[in-house]
Amino acid sequence: MNDDATGSDWRPADPPPAASGCPAHTDAVPLSGLEYQQSPATVYQELRRAHGPVAPVLLDGDVPAWLVLSYPEVSFVTSHDDLFARDSRRWNQWENIPADWPLLPFVGYQPSVLFTEGAEHQRRAGVITEALEGVDQFELGVNCRRIADELIDAFAGSGEAELMSAYAHPLAMRAAVEMCGMAAHSTDTDDLVRDLRISLDTAEGEDPVAAYVRVQERIQRLVEDKREGPGADVVSRMLSHPEGLSDDAIVQDLISVVAAAQQPTANWICNTLRLLLTDDRFALNVSGGRVSVGEALTEVLWLDTPTQNFIGRWAVRDTLLGGRRIKAGDCLVLGLAAANTDPQIWPDGHVGAEGNGAHLSFSNGEHRCPYPAPLLADVIARTAVETLMERLPDVVLSVEPEDLVWRPSIWMRGLTSLPVEFTPTLR
Ligand code: HEM
Repeated sequence: MNDDATGSDWRPADPPPAASGCPAHTDAVPLSGLEYQQSPATVYQELRRAHGPVAPVLLDGDVPAWLVLSYPEVSFVTSHDDLFARDSRRWNQWENIPADWPLLPFVGYQPSVLFTEGAEHQRRAGVITEALEGVDQFELGVNCRRIADELIDAFAGSGEAELMSAYAHPLAMRAAVEMCGMAAHSTDTDDLVRDLRISLDTAEGEDPVAAYVRVQERIQRLVEDKREGPGADVVSRMLSHPEGLSDDAIVQDLISVVAAAQQPTANWICNTLRLLLTDDRFALNVSGGRVSVGEALTEVLWLDTPTQNFIGRWAVRDTLLGGRRIKAGDCLVLGLAAANTDPQIWPDGHVGAEGNGAHLSFSNGEHRCPYPAPLLADVIARTAVETLMERLPDVVLSVEPEDLVWRPSIWMRGLTSLPVEFTPTLR
């Protein structure tokens, strides 16, 4: 019997050196560096060739982990939470993690849906799923159109804009907080949007921890307000759900929902705009589109997916995966971008052909992005892209495509800025 956890027959052309039980193996690759920004697909291809489907890598501070690079292995890991689970307290490296470790915000255990397991996770994820199912997609589209128009109005007269900060980020954030029942125009909403941005992005130069505390306090107040006066929103639906989650649990899960929604949706919008503005198939007729916005959105999920790598899963017990001996408590990083471009599923090299939606950009299994969320993200991203193209039909990049800079992150794939110019318009 094949005792490889995946049961996969596939082996790399050059098998990895004698499978090690420790990712801190001498051939471990630092999971950082410029190549991950400029040409990630080539990096993943080389890693796969050199190490097979599961590569030993070093996270910040040379902390060892495994990067799962192939489609079957990522699918296997995400669909076997009995073997590869989410509670990071299992990690066998905690004694080597300093208090100021940069990845702590993502792997430090919190009592939220993200880190719960088994029946408790099903309960928490079930409440989120049903609350999100209550969002009327038509209404969401109308709200996003209004948010998009307001943001465009602010820069349309100037003939130029930086679309990451002036459009994609605030649009995704406002759409998410409005779904939660916060007023469109209030100082509270503006403060929350600002603090969420700071808490999620250490590059903002302000204190992310203090901002996170303010986010928590604001969400707590929102939950109290909705207990007093419920409405037709995600928070009120979570509060009235028959599972009867505590307010503390709901606050934790709401922060996860808003944070999980904002960054990837903003980057999805921006990566799609970049594709539309730089690729000849789209650039010829950007507003009418020979290739539709829908196709561009799907192509981005295959080729420039926002959540490039996701940390992660922790091995419940010793096992084998992709020819590697994984020890109980080892950390596995889900290589979602690498899996999407795995040559095993695209033998002819034509990645993402014909709008195929079987990518792993929303992950898979018990902890996948909860079912209605990808549909809602699609409404937000599609409305954002279509509105911009419709309002600014002659929009073009104001720098050369090769001068666009990807963020220095191996986790989120997005641009540092997307500067554009267009004929100034007044509404
Ligand atoms: C309305 C927008 C969105 C909402 C409300 C949302 C919500 C969530 C939530 C609550 C989780 C945690 C699930 C759990 O641990 O059980 C999650 C996970 C995730 N989401 Fe989303 N999300 C949104 C958009 C997106 C987008 C645009 C992407 C990427 C294209 C994305 C990719 C992911 C991934 C990769 C995970 C991790 C799954 C795992 O652990 O395997 N999400 N999302």
